[in-house]
Formats: sequence, structure tokens, C-alpha cells
Amino acid sequence: MPLLAPTPDTLQLGRFTLRILTPADWRLEQALSRDDDVIRWTLFPPDLSDDRARYRMHRAAEARGESLLARYSLWEGEEVLGTAGISSTADGTPELMYALLPFGRGRGAATAASRGLSDWALANGVPEVALRTIYGNSLSEAVARRAGFHPVRTEQQRQRDALVKMLYWVRSASDGPAPLP
Ligand SMILES: CC(C)(COP(=O)(O)OP(=O)(O)OC[C@H]1O[C@@H](n2cnc3c(N)ncnc32)[C@H](O)[C@@H]1OP(=O)(O)O)[C@@H](O)C(=O)NCCC(=O)NCCS
Repeated sequence: MPLLAPTPDTLQLGRFTLRILTPADWRLEQALSRDDDVIRWTLFPPDLSDDRARYRMHRAAEARGESLLARYSLWEGEEVLGTAGISSTADGTPELMYALLPFGRGRGAATAASRGLSDWALANGVPEVALRTIYGNSLSEAVARRAGFHPVRTEQQRQRDALVKMLYWVRSASDGPAPLP
């Protein structure tokens, strides 16, 4: 089911900024695909070639055009730290994703992005926003909790060649605001 509202091109979240991915962001995508933590804990394809990384920027723009996905680069000032995004799902509950380059971690950027994207979705008519963490990803679990999500179930999902256990988290409009940073 497509996202209910047109996604913003930018979101200012305190000292962090989300900017919709552009073709120029392919090197960021490639750098994330070469980070061991990103590969361990996400569905990111490993070690993207230049062409594949460029193609993923093109696909992200196409999917946004169909209201299926909005992926952003995540900035603090003039420094790009990683990506975050929101995607539609078959059951209508949008899902968040985020990944930081190592030097972008430990600043609260992923928490701000998750809080900001879920605030945006809940303010635009979505009753519930979700995210999934691979079991054991304690840093991402901490992000989810700080952004106002709570775990509701475990499930299995395919990550490349393996089935992995996931935690499914939600934040609902009825939960009220996310905790203050
Ligand atoms: C998961 C991931 C995004 C978490 O990154 P992170 O830096 O721990 O998360 P945040 O950007 O929210 O920063 C939180 C850290 O900044 C600190 N911080 C500083 N200022 C902060 C603020 N204003 N608000 C929140 N946290 C703040 C927190 O104390 C925390 O540090 P700590 O772990 O030492 O306590 C990162 O580890 C990553 O990219 N991993 C690989 C990809 C991945 O797992 N993606 C998620 C898939 S579900």
C-alpha cells in the first residue's frame, strides 16, 4: 500500500537534516555497503560497485515517484552521516530504516531521524509506524526505544542467504509523543 502523504524533500530535526537521496549520493550508498555493521544488521547488499550504487539511487527515486519509499541522506551541518528512510508495506504500516557510517554514530542522529520520520508519518494520518531489528542489534534497539517504539513480536525474515530472527517494533499515534532526547 503506498504511503498516504507526499514525502517531504527535507526534514530539519534539531541539528540534523534529512535530504531526499539524489543521484549524487551513490558514494554514500557504496560506503554503507562496505561497512561490516551495516552488512551484518541490515538487508543492504554488500560491496556495491559504482554502477550498482548509482542504480540504487535511480531505483530509490523511482520508488519515491510511486509513493512506495522515501530515502534520505542524514546530515549534521555539512557532514553526511548516513541514510534513513520510510517505506510502504503490504499491510499499510510504513516501516523505517536507518544506517550510519561509523563516524556518524554516537551523536543521536539515528534517534533523531527515527523520531522525526515517525512523527511525520503519525502527523500525516498513519495510525502506526514500524521498524524491524535483527535479533541482537542492541544499538538499533536502543534507537527504537529512544524514538518511542516498543517491540511487539518476533518474526523470521530472509537476509541474503539466511533466515534471521527479527524483532518487530511499532510506534502508534495513541502512544503520544516520543520521549525527549
Ligand atoms: C544502529 C545505528 C544506526 C545506531 O547508531 P547510534 O549512533 O548508536 O544511534 P544514534 O545515532 O541514535 O546515537 C545514539 C548514541 O548517541 C548518544 N547521543 C548523543 N546525543 C544524543 C541525543 N541528543 N539523542 C540521543 N542519543 C544521543 C547516545 O547516548 C548514544 O550513544 P551510546 O550508545 O554510547 O549510549 C548504528 O549502529 C548503525 O548504523 N549500525 C549499522 C546499521 C544498522 O544496524 N541499522 C539499523 C538496522 S535495524
